[in-house]
Amino acid sequence: MSRVVVVTGATSGIGRAAAREFAGRGDRLVLAARSPTSLAEVRRECRTAGADRVRTVPTDVTDADALDALADTAVREFGRIDVWVHTAAVMAYGRFEEIPAEVFDQVVRTDLLGAAGVVRVALRRFRAAGGGTLILTGSVLGHVTAPYMSGYVTSKWGLQGLVRSVQQEARDLPGVHVCLVTPGSVDTPVYQRAANYLGRAGRPPLPITTPQRVARAVARLADRPRREVSVGRVNLLMRGGFTLLPGVYDALVGPLMRRGGLTGQPVAPHDGVVFSPDPAGAAVRGGWLPELSDLLRRAGAPTGRAATAVAAGAAVAAGTALAVGTALAAGGAARRRRR
Ligand SMILES: NC(=O)c1ccc[n+]([C@@H]2O[C@H](COP(=O)([O-])OP(=O)(O)OC[C@H]3O[C@@H](n4cnc5c(N)ncnc54)[C@H](OP(=O)(O)O)[C@@H]3O)[C@@H](O)[C@H]2O)c1
Repeated sequence: MSRVVVVTGATSGIGRAAAREFAGRGDRLVLAARSPTSLAEVRRECRTAGADRVRTVPTDVTDADALDALADTAVREFGRIDVWVHTAAVMAYGRFEEIPAEVFDQVVRTDLLGAAGVVRVALRRFRAAGGGTLILTGSVLGHVTAPYMSGYVTSKWGLQGLVRSVQQEARDLPGVHVCLVTPGSVDTPVYQRAANYLGRAGRPPLPITTPQRVARAVARLADRPRREVSVGRVNLLMRGGFTLLPGVYDALVGPLMRRGGLTGQPVAPHDGVVFSPDPAGAAVRGGWLPELSDLLRRAGAPTGRAATAVAAGAAVAAGTALAVGTALAAGGAARRRRR
């Protein structure tokens, strides 16, 4: 049966891919983001992909009244909300003290407080209706940390805590599900659209997955809700390193971030889409995968799954090398102290 699916953050990346995925299943869609121009484009794509009916509602998730109005529109138009997928987020690169306070605050306002606003509105509606599935988008950066992305990391750690709390509170509501999808690197425009006070543009570190793959995981959660689903081949490895070898992780993450998570392209300070949307930069894909596979192909290295395996292998090898190096250095220092 056709479901009523609300998507907040539907105009770009994972949200846009999820909107198309649900459209392909013939669901009725209520699509929201800030840009009316991009929403109109996504509406056309979803109709072409097979959506039964599509309603767009320009919405800023930092505005609690707008979120209420969005839910009202969905219920008025389609009678109920079955699934609410929340993907809206923005990013800012820079050392914490060099990011303007208002930019940091707006990242947290959007990524954490905006998500909290969605949780509040969705759960109130679901509790009253006796059912519904809320799917939030966290990140592997809600389990580990990385430098130069403090507002985003702070928000994703906060979201992780919020989601676990409301999952526990909703245990008395058997028809209500709160799910979290936690991707690693995904080929979306979020990196180009991020604010930047670092002087070098950001990019997704390897291995990179597609927004379509994350969208399929989201659709599977709508069919069979689960507490959390991780999408990314090295997410578990990163979490293991972060938890079990924090000293090694901290020594490794800075150099890896500078090599793998930033481009050499210089950028003047700018606030990206943190405060207002840029319809020209909105798309499902960010264009990172072809670029990287081209580079690998030109270098004669394997691509696709093989490249992922190489990247994961390199990460493990680098981690192991550093772990052994750290242990040896610590042993040497201890011996010197004993002498
Ligand atoms: N890409 C990755 O590598 C990656 C990895 C892990 C997790 N994630 C998570 O996946 C989710 C989607 O990210 P993405 O990579 O797909 O980003 P994206 O391509 O930049 O899309 C972000 C979406 O959020 C919307 N948005 C931003 N601020 C908003 C606001 N104040 N109110 C309403 N909508 C707003 C944007 O539309 P408008 O600009 O039109 O408002 C856009 O539709 C995020 O939660 C992100 O943290 C991404």
